[in-house]
Amino acid sequence: MSAIGLGCWQFGSMEWGYGKEYLEKEAVEIVHRALDLGIDLIDTAEIYGFGKSERAVGRALEGRRDEAFIATKVFPVLPIPPIVEQRGRGSARRLETDRIDLYQIHQPNPLVPIGMQMQGMRKLQDAGLVKHVGVSNFSLGKWKAAEKAHGSPVISNQVQYSLACRGPDHSGLTAHAAQNDRLIIAYSPLAQGFLSAKYDATNAPGGVRAANSLFLPENLERGHELITALREVAKAHDATPAQIALAWVIKRKNVVAIPGASSVAQLEKNAAAADIDLTEDEDARLTTASDNFRPIQGAAALPKIIRKRLPF
Ligand SMILES: NC(=O)c1ccc[n+]([C@@H]2O[C@H](COP(=O)([O-])OP(=O)(O)OC[C@H]3O[C@@H](n4cnc5c(N)ncnc54)[C@H](OP(=O)(O)O)[C@@H]3O)[C@@H](O)[C@H]2O)c1
Repeated sequence: MSAIGLGCWQFGSMEWGYGKEYLEKEAVEIVHRALDLGIDLIDTAEIYGFGKSERAVGRALEGRRDEAFIATKVFPVLPIPPIVEQRGRGSARRLETDRIDLYQIHQPNPLVPIGMQMQGMRKLQDAGLVKHVGVSNFSLGKWKAAEKAHGSPVISNQVQYSLACRGPDHSGLTAHAAQNDRLIIAYSPLAQGFLSAKYDATNAPGGVRAANSLFLPENLERGHELITALREVAKAHDATPAQIALAWVIKRKNVVAIPGASSVAQLEKNAAAADIDLTEDEDARLTTASDNFRPIQGAAALPKIIRKRLPF
């Protein structure tokens, strides 16, 4: 699959606020342009826009199905085998396909044993509807347990990973993928636009991103070293900071990135990031700036996010 894919959460999801025309027109154009540029990894999920994203992808792939590697996800509400099976068939119907290339469990469900969840995945694989099985938001231990229960490769783990979010490096996920022929699919590889260097304290995005602590004025300030490094490396490559952020992600072994795009122009820029070859010095500078970035998050950030959202 292509190292840069396309994330489709934005399609039909109210929380991104891109509107109806984006879903009906731009989303299809974005997928077509992605295929034209050799991007084949198209990531969606049944929960995105409650089926609207999968339907948009299905519409866009009409007549071009074989050019795409479709990855979608089951949202694990009561993921017992017949429900997983039924949900997989529902996704395939919306995607207008008889083959889901990668079917992922969107997040762990601590109430249903993983072996039971995998039975549903196995049935879909045996029926030929699902080619590969993956997980998302799984810790290393849970990923290994899923694979053990499945009895064959759970090829990928889709997790948040970028210069602004290095959790997968610290928890051993990226090392595990690199050493065991598995794949990390990096979601929010642009940290939802934070790494594009276009936002600041007076111009932060709303919608779903109003709840993202990275866009708090304090964190935008703390990101100064990282954003400066991105800008300077970008200048040397006649590229944008967002492209450099993507180039850094996919330089990691067995890591692919699935940035979302609000326009065809963004998609084109993201596709071109696959051709940027960072030098070892540039890579080290970005990694150091990322190591030094200490955003406030979790319990420390919550009151500030709430205060920011209050109308007074
Ligand atoms: N498995 C999971 O739990 C999970 C969770 C989250 C996401 N995902 C998947 O990962 C995909 C990507 O993650 P994400 O959407 O959260 O974050 P992202 O890809 O880091 O950010 C996407 C946003 O960044 C901006 N952008 C994109 N390309 C740009 C460019 N070239 N220059 C400047 N800005 C650019 C756009 O917003 P603006 O133009 O409006 O700034 C776009 O909507 C999703 O679509 C989804 O498929 C999965």
